[in-house]
Amino acid sequence: MPHELDAVAAAILRKNDRDGFTIPAARHYPFQWNWDSAFTALGWATLDAERAWRELESLADGQADDGMLPHIIFRHDDADYFPGPRVWRAQAGGHPVSGISQPPVLASVVRALAEAQGAPGLARAAELFPKILDWHRWWRRARMVDGCPVVCTVHPWETGRDNSPDWHPGLAAMTVDPQLQPYRRKDTEHSAPAERPSGAEYDKYLSIVKFGREHGWRQEVLARDGPFLMADPGVFFILLRAERDLLWLARRLGRGGPAAEIETRITAAERGADYLWNADARAYCARDVRSGRFAPGFSSASALCFYAGVGGAQQRRATLQHLRRIAQKVRFGQPSWDPDAAHFDRRRYWCGPVWCQMNYLIAAGLRERGEQGDAGATAMAEKLRGDLRRLVERTGFYECFDPLSGDGCLSADFSWTAALWLAWASPSARKTPAAAAA
Ligand code: GLC
Repeated sequence: MPHELDAVAAAILRKNDRDGFTIPAARHYPFQWNWDSAFTALGWATLDAERAWRELESLADGQADDGMLPHIIFRHDDADYFPGPRVWRAQAGGHPVSGISQPPVLASVVRALAEAQGAPGLARAAELFPKILDWHRWWRRARMVDGCPVVCTVHPWETGRDNSPDWHPGLAAMTVDPQLQPYRRKDTEHSAPAERPSGAEYDKYLSIVKFGREHGWRQEVLARDGPFLMADPGVFFILLRAERDLLWLARRLGRGGPAAEIETRITAAERGADYLWNADARAYCARDVRSGRFAPGFSSASALCFYAGVGGAQQRRATLQHLRRIAQKVRFGQPSWDPDAAHFDRRRYWCGPVWCQMNYLIAAGLRERGEQGDAGATAMAEKLRGDLRRLVERTGFYECFDPLSGDGCLSADFSWTAALWLAWASPSARKTPAAAAA
């Protein structure tokens, strides 16, 4: 039986559809974003399989010559958005793009669709496979530096968790470019400034963009000499999981050479994972590569170790303890930042609000852990799914939610919230590929 909100969610996807790709939300986000498209395809798959594949194929159309899939594809300019294509000045696949990437969930979504659809799905996956493989090679080549055993990131925006306190050590270690030109933000005109990153943070974000632009977006220069270099448990865990899903595809498609290559990268990543384990916090934490300093708390990305299949018994136990402690402090879902840590702010973007896509990934990992006999993990996965359902039923399809009051934050009618409702949180979602994964 469909839930009454299923039709509302479907109407949001249709409203945000731009003929082959889906914008995250009107006004605030008028272009194609990388991981948004991947999550949105899970929602499309419940309505129209063909449309889901087109979403993913349009994302792959923005691939750069070096293999990077950019975080934004600007198919047109929009005076209402900042920083737009004229600030980035990067090109890929014939489109203006941003010069950085975003968390690589694409392979995992392609696997979910292929697994659910059988032979026709696998045939579509076969077309995307070489592009995803190139992108995963890009992470290895462009985002690994000597002395750090895990993948890094050169800009907080590349992590998809823009102003998380996770980035404080890296941002504190850099200075604002003295030649940064005055600029006018648009995000704070569309949303309450108290729910957005601060001006001081924004100056640093734009200083990194300036550096990349002035170096022609040469990615190796950005990683080696750029102003910011941190290792992010979010990107690391999502990429490791994506490698496992790409390996599954490689085997199904009979691609022996790439399968061996992917296996080698998986083994190396598993060996490197302890680099992100912060023994003081008893959690996987973001880490500034140059100083070795850890971020000061448990973020929603810390909880993705289950999703990546990483960690020994003690690390898994400690992570579940954090999840239970935090669940006692808030009323809804897993917040983006630890309510017991400094800088928690229940309404400010990645400093506290509950994000649907993070909760979906955390729950997917917990559910798999539960299938290996950990009943506590199963219970937590079910709780997160139930909380997301309650949040949407109570408040609507917001970009993110206040974990204490359940109120919506920032944009309404948000694509990935609608998509993950259809694919995961709705009571009628039980049979979709994404619900099977989570
Ligand atoms: C914000 C989010 C990022 C998302 C983008 C579009 O920048 O932090 O994760 O991809 O908006 O929704």
